[in-house]
Amino acid sequence: MSLIGLPSEPRRLKVIDELTELRTSLDDLRARGRRIALVPTMGNLHQGHLALVDKARTLADVTVATIFVNPFQFGENEDFDTYPRTFEADVSALDAAQCDVLFAPNANTVYPHGPDVATRIEVPSLGEMLCGESRPTFFRGVATVVNILFNMVQPDIAMFGEKDYQQLLVVRRMVSDLKMPINVQAVPTVREPDGLALSSRNSYLSEPERRRASELYSTLMMTRDALRAGERDFPALVRRATQRLSDSGFRPDYVAIRRQSDLSEPERNDADLIVLAAAWLGETRLIDNLKV
Ligand code: PAJ
Repeated sequence: MSLIGLPSEPRRLKVIDELTELRTSLDDLRARGRRIALVPTMGNLHQGHLALVDKARTLADVTVATIFVNPFQFGENEDFDTYPRTFEADVSALDAAQCDVLFAPNANTVYPHGPDVATRIEVPSLGEMLCGESRPTFFRGVATVVNILFNMVQPDIAMFGEKDYQQLLVVRRMVSDLKMPINVQAVPTVREPDGLALSSRNSYLSEPERRRASELYSTLMMTRDALRAGERDFPALVRRATQRLSDSGFRPDYVAIRRQSDLSEPERNDADLIVLAAAWLGETRLIDNLKV
């Protein structure tokens, strides 16, 4: 049993890093009929994460946030080592947001035999398109760790942000395919005043890059407005958006117009579309999306 950090003043938030202690605390609450909501994160918490905590608190009796920077979802040349880790600030933010439990397991607890040989979960097709094309092992890593976190916390409800729309659908598909008794709730994207979606990776941007970054959102809005106005030449819209991103100094990874339900390619007359984009600004890969 171990508590991380010794709070100097009374704290509502219970900070746990051992699975046995988590199980004891939550079993007791569950036995008393409390509904448990899970907010999985990789830390470096911002208002986007805290919106998930707020929504969780309205839906459940007990809110459990997790912080685990999951090595299994980072590619070999990606930013696992430099990913921002701000544990003390995260604890304060969760406490102020009236979160009940923070579970912050270490890698040995999550992957006792190492991530590479861990039992894994693949979500074919949905996890292979768009972000899955440029990050081929990413959604396998996400689905695997989310499944482990689900089994550790055994929540009734789990919160995911629409900012990572493909991730949200991958998790929903896993839950449905594997008959997990968990209600997955989506939370709308929280943005900066200029429209940039809040993200831990925004801290990688230089000042000039940060000024240009909101062009990603403007480009999505331009495309959404054209679709709303009835334009249906999807390839032309994608070309125009991609060009605008390049002109603004991005290296576009993809721009796509898809069906909201399953990210498949839409027909002309489909309603419920979504525009998604991923683009590099210098060394930083940003993603965003907008429903039509
Ligand atoms: P992380 O990037 O820390 O995000 C945790 C949750 O916060 C995700 O559900 C994400 O969609 C949501 N989120 C991030 N920025 C948001 C914003 N601006 N508005 C609303 N929600 C936002 O996503 C992950 O971690 C990991 O892949 C994880 C699911 C924890 C698995 O390791």
